[in-house]
Amino acid sequence: MRVLVTGAAGFIGSHVVDELVAAGHDVTALDGLIPEVHPSGVWPLGRCEGIRRLTVDLSDADGVAGALQGIEAVVHQAALVGHGLNLADLPRYAAMTDLGTATLLAAMHAEGIHKLVLASSMVVYGEGRYRCTRHGDTVPLPRRVEDLEEGIFDPRCPSCGQPLGWDLVTEAARLNPTSVYATSKLAQEFYVAAWSRGLQVTTVALRYHNVYGPRMPRNSPYSGVAALFRSRVADGLAPLVFEDGKQMRDFVHVADIARANRLALEADLDTTAPGLVPLNVCSGSPRSVGWAARTLAAADAGPPPEYTGQHRAADVRHVVADPARARDLIGFNASISPEEGFRRFARDQI
Ligand code: UD1
Repeated sequence: MRVLVTGAAGFIGSHVVDELVAAGHDVTALDGLIPEVHPSGVWPLGRCEGIRRLTVDLSDADGVAGALQGIEAVVHQAALVGHGLNLADLPRYAAMTDLGTATLLAAMHAEGIHKLVLASSMVVYGEGRYRCTRHGDTVPLPRRVEDLEEGIFDPRCPSCGQPLGWDLVTEAARLNPTSVYATSKLAQEFYVAAWSRGLQVTTVALRYHNVYGPRMPRNSPYSGVAALFRSRVADGLAPLVFEDGKQMRDFVHVADIARANRLALEADLDTTAPGLVPLNVCSGSPRSVGWAARTLAAADAGPPPEYTGQHRAADVRHVVADPARARDLIGFNASISPEEGFRRFARDQI
């Protein structure tokens, strides 16, 4: 297929390009090379080499229309990433992610291109899924500052006040973005859902969980916990674990993320129910943040993790996902276990 990959110079986008090229697709790489991620304004070495590379900002309608000439499908990875906690950043997220996506969708419609795969994120859920031993499946109360300060990190049951246990999030979970970044990712899903219904097509949105692997940004404000731990260990320092380290995440290797994109692109989806099909993309093997810190520290024979007891107001406690729907609809099963992936990650260049 002739495929345009947006965000192709980025950590995940560049792996998606590699995967599609290796599978024989004719790939065009597009990136705006935004200063937040690419301060030098040039394509990073070794990414998307040997294929057509276009430096285009997605909000540039003419540039996007030009990029779509001859294209059959788009894999849309471009978005402003990061914590998105600073309200001053609202216009930047809206301009980069919302307007960029809207411009792309309108241009695809104008060019008659109806095949799209959207990169989404588990951040659209906010808190994960919780179970009370007495009241079953429940939506937790927001965590109280007094609890966090006393070291009670699990959210409480709204009926009995007991701390809750975690469970696997399915794609039917309530959507409750808790940051500007999360709101912009959900906005992308809604724009794509409306576009898909308008065109009577089915579009997959891949909700990535905690992605890690080679080329992951090191120590930037956009780095997730795995990269931060990896950078500390590489510098001979102990990883710093917040809360009690028992918060759960699903760490999924970027090679699996890239494969999920290819499978979604190549899937023959049921078109009888047009709209958005969200799929969790995860390893299916939840691990704690403390496990991630211990594993990376041990792989480098470095100092053991330091548990700071510190907490960040905006952090959710547990988010781990059910991988069943991605397996059933696009045949995706993660092939790299967290143990194997972290063994490799400890040696990767980041
Ligand atoms: C992360 C990403 C989010 C992405 C999602 C799914 C960031 C900032 N967040 O969300 O964009 O969509 O994964 O891929 O990139 N922690 C420590 N020590 C540290 C840093 C963090 O213990 O040095 C803890 C945090 O308190 C938190 C957990 O690790 O409990 C995960 O933190 P982080 O990776 O930043 O955010 P996620 O919510 O998992």
